[in-house]
Amino acid sequence: MNDKLGNWKRTHRCGDLTAANVGQDVCVMGWVQRRRDHGGLIFIDLRDREGIVQLALDPDRDLASHQKAEQIRNEFVIAARGKVSHRPDGTVNPKMKTGEVEIEISELLLLNRSETPPFMIDEFTEVAENIRLKYRYLDLRRPALQSNLLKRHLVAKTVRNYLDGQGFIEVETPVLTKSTPEGARDYLVPSRVNLGKFYALPQSPQLFKQLLMVSGFDRYFQIVKCFRDEDLRADRQPEFTQIDCEMSFVNRDDVMSVMEGMIAEIFKVALDVEISLPISRLTYAEAMDRFGVDNPDMRFGMELFDITSQVAGSQFKVFAEVAANDGLVKAMNAKGCATLSRKELDELTEFVKIYGAKGLAWAKITDEGWQSPIAKFFTAEELAALNETLDVEVGDLLLFMADTPRVANEALGRLRGHLGQKLGLARKDDYKFVWVTDFPLLEWDEEERRHVAVHHPFTSPLEEDIPLLDSEPGKARAQAYDLVLNGSEIGGGSVRIHDQAVQSRMFDLLGIGEEEAREKFGFLLDALSFGAPPHGGIAFGLDRVMMILTGADSIRDVIAFPKTQKATCMLSDAPNEVAEKQLQELGIRLRTKQK
Ligand code: AMO
Ligand code: AMP
Repeated sequence: MNDKLGNWKRTHRCGDLTAANVGQDVCVMGWVQRRRDHGGLIFIDLRDREGIVQLALDPDRDLASHQKAEQIRNEFVIAARGKVSHRPDGTVNPKMKTGEVEIEISELLLLNRSETPPFMIDEFTEVAENIRLKYRYLDLRRPALQSNLLKRHLVAKTVRNYLDGQGFIEVETPVLTKSTPEGARDYLVPSRVNLGKFYALPQSPQLFKQLLMVSGFDRYFQIVKCFRDEDLRADRQPEFTQIDCEMSFVNRDDVMSVMEGMIAEIFKVALDVEISLPISRLTYAEAMDRFGVDNPDMRFGMELFDITSQVAGSQFKVFAEVAANDGLVKAMNAKGCATLSRKELDELTEFVKIYGAKGLAWAKITDEGWQSPIAKFFTAEELAALNETLDVEVGDLLLFMADTPRVANEALGRLRGHLGQKLGLARKDDYKFVWVTDFPLLEWDEEERRHVAVHHPFTSPLEEDIPLLDSEPGKARAQAYDLVLNGSEIGGGSVRIHDQAVQSRMFDLLGIGEEEAREKFGFLLDALSFGAPPHGGIAFGLDRVMMILTGADSIRDVIAFPKTQKATCMLSDAPNEVAEKQLQELGIRLRTKQK
């Protein structure tokens, strides 16, 4: 064995040394941040997980280690022994945790060399993300990612403690399994032993956690990887982590109350921020009406107004026609934004087009009234009524959108979020939670010409809406709830269907025939027939929670080894081609040739 360390034993981590250690003989190990030569004296900043400490090498104290230090370059791995001392007057660095002290080195051991890294390992250097991802192990040496992952560990630990205290037990569920629909595509894994058959990686442990309730475990949780083959965004990864929970003999208020306790505990421990409970609630209908989206950012106002009836009789054809055709005309008052330039207004118009909007009408409120290309279409009375509805003041900018309800809400709602960011109304260290409840149970899928579940097919309708399943299923509401934080959906769950007949009826409504239901979910239907307790649960997106707790702009910054927007791993080069022999064993012939 190559025992480089010999009798060297580390006594402290670099970042932990303070004035309290002055006079002690210590041994530290870590990476060289940088070396400075000062007329005979050499200083080395040595770094480990906890921080950086300064080593001082004086040739008069120990010539051998001073000579070794002359050879040392950035990122070399060394061990050093010496005595902790106060830094000389005038050289104290109050910005560093260890800034009052240095170690007077008496012995140095070179443990390993390093090539010159492709970027500086510090918090200042801006590095292109493809380079960071390729050398992820070096990027992870930098303080920002170290701190994000340490915080992630702290949050996971807090979650386990809290849930354990509430009587939850952690149970592992399979990764090689059958499709669990959550609305995304499955990742498939071919089976060698059962040629022609495939496992699906779980989009969530949904079915297994429900089975655990049938088994009587009462309260389950798991910090668990989920896999979804969907288009990636800044807050989505193909594999991500859920804090997944399920509880028996509860209604939705019970679930929400236990879970907001957990969220408050996380914020207390990770940020020392008190979240006042209970968290306020909005119904889905109210969220859409006031904010246009089901994940509203509650840090600022700028709410939307439905002005359809007010403009239905106006001379502005675009609005009148939309109003006459069951469409929606909505408006928003961007307070004080009359100063936006023509170019900026054009940018806003481009923004709403992403969501399918045909245009964006605007009006600037000046001393002389409306300055707007559409002002001429409205009578003085109509303008006065709009001013009243929209609480207009000089200096405001009004924005209008006429379209189908879906497009008008989404486009203007997203524009509200966008403007909130752009205008600096949304502070990162302001944490505004809201539960969104009473989601629709079903939505109509134009492409497939059938209803699909808004949450998932196992979600229970509101008791009072069960009769609607026969008359107007599209109107039925679900016992589903999302937790939204600063405009991000950080968790979602529901009370489940625990009655086999209702579950079969639900599959029926979703256009899943009896045979298909048996083939896909027979095991669940069977389980529901053996005494399933009333149950419900929720799953939080741990990565999204971590993004907010760390202030990260990208989900990749809170995951040790994340994937790119194209679902690749730049470090390991996954996914990759496989040997012909492997494909043969799996009975797979590719339609498109591998490169
Ligand atoms: P849902 O699909 O809402 O519910 O997922 C729960 C939470 O997981 C997070 N999330 C994601 N995070 C990162 N990348 C992704 N691709 C991604 N997809 C989802 C979100 C979301 O709120 N089985 C149900 C939960 C239940 O009913 O108990 C489920 O998976 O923060
Ligand atoms: P037009 O009469 O087509 O020149 O449009 C006048 C203004 O109304 C322009 O600023 C358009 O961007 C805007 N506009 C067009 N269609 C819509 C719409 N569906 N909703 C809101 N504004 C629109």
